[in-house]
Amino acid sequence: MTNGVTTTGTTTTTSTPVTTATTAPGAAPATSTGTGTGTGTMTEDQLGLIMQGHVAFQALWAAHELGVFPHLSAHPDATADEVAKETGLPASSLEVLLGALRGLGLVEEHDGRLRNAPLAEEHLVPGRPGSYTPMLGWQRHIVYPGLSDFTASLREGTSVGLRNFPGPGDTLYHRLAVHPELRGVFHEAMSGLSALANQGLSASGALGGSRHVVDVGGGDGTNAIALASAHPGLRVTVFDLPSVTELARQNIERAGLTDRVGVHSGDMFTDTFPDGVDAVLFSHILNIFDPPVSVTLLRKAYDTLPPGGKVAVLNMMQNDTKDGPATTMLAAPYFLAVASGQGRLYSWSEYESWIREAGFSGYERFGDLPFFHGLHVGTR
Ligand SMILES: C[S@@+](CC[C@H](N)C(=O)[O-])C[C@H]1O[C@@H](n2cnc3c(N)ncnc32)[C@H](O)[C@@H]1O
Repeated sequence: MTNGVTTTGTTTTTSTPVTTATTAPGAAPATSTGTGTGTGTMTEDQLGLIMQGHVAFQALWAAHELGVFPHLSAHPDATADEVAKETGLPASSLEVLLGALRGLGLVEEHDGRLRNAPLAEEHLVPGRPGSYTPMLGWQRHIVYPGLSDFTASLREGTSVGLRNFPGPGDTLYHRLAVHPELRGVFHEAMSGLSALANQGLSASGALGGSRHVVDVGGGDGTNAIALASAHPGLRVTVFDLPSVTELARQNIERAGLTDRVGVHSGDMFTDTFPDGVDAVLFSHILNIFDPPVSVTLLRKAYDTLPPGGKVAVLNMMQNDTKDGPATTMLAAPYFLAVASGQGRLYSWSEYESWIREAGFSGYERFGDLPFFHGLHVGTR
């Protein structure tokens, strides 16, 4: 995995907003172009894997719940008997699970000895930097049940899958207020995803020259804490729904950053952003909404900022040909079917054009961020 940050676009200082994307020729990162997997090269086994994608996930989830990956990490070259003892599974059950894991390439066996495959070792051991495991509970408990209503959501053009999470409000975010356990699962996932990507945000230095950032829809404070830790003079305010800012407040206190990181409860559409900020961060936010709503939020950021102020958009990126990477493409249905009934993971050029449309005259992009992320920075 690449943790480096590459500046992949041009900074412009034109005072007239430009609505056409202007990617510098030859400067685009691998993630901003590309041709996707391409069905022409698909094998029959890959097609079978897609058909049984739900089984693949359940095998991964079972292995996670049973602690298979951390056990094999601590005891590489364990025997099946040892893993059976550790997991408490009958030998025949373990054989079924190991068969699925080996078929998926997550576990390898050599001469009767088992070990994690390299990517499983890197990303499926909990508690390790770069671990994907915080996102698994969200897939299991929120995405999985919600996506059973995908066809109905497509037909009706709205989040039919939200019926799995009864409560007040029209979005999953509002409904999580009455599902504290799921709220914990959700924010653990977002925190895990952001912890992967915000290394790139901090390393880019994009907000390093700012005094006070408002992190809109800042969730449990993971990004705010990372930014404030990376930039010792920076103040950050986490702006989120009241049911979420309490979670952020506790994390900020635990991180010992209450002097520079605060919270502000509100609705990003109906409440004003805090006064005095010179940077606005939207991390995993604009993908929740349809394009006109995203542009409205970017305009609100523009109106809040002083001249020279920055807007930063951090997200998983679709390439401009809109056919990959597959991980990003498959993240989109959840927003329609469950989270908000709109939105999707957008392309590099879409974000750039919206930032310009909102009035920002300077524009810069950073590619090659972890887990298919990119960062766009606009300057007022
Ligand atoms: C996908 S999460 C992103 C969390 C965080 N920014 C990150 O990148 O990890 C979306 C966040 O937006 C918040 N949110 C959704 N609708 C909101 C609204 N109308 N006003 C304020 N916050 C909202 C949710 O509570 C949630 O914390």
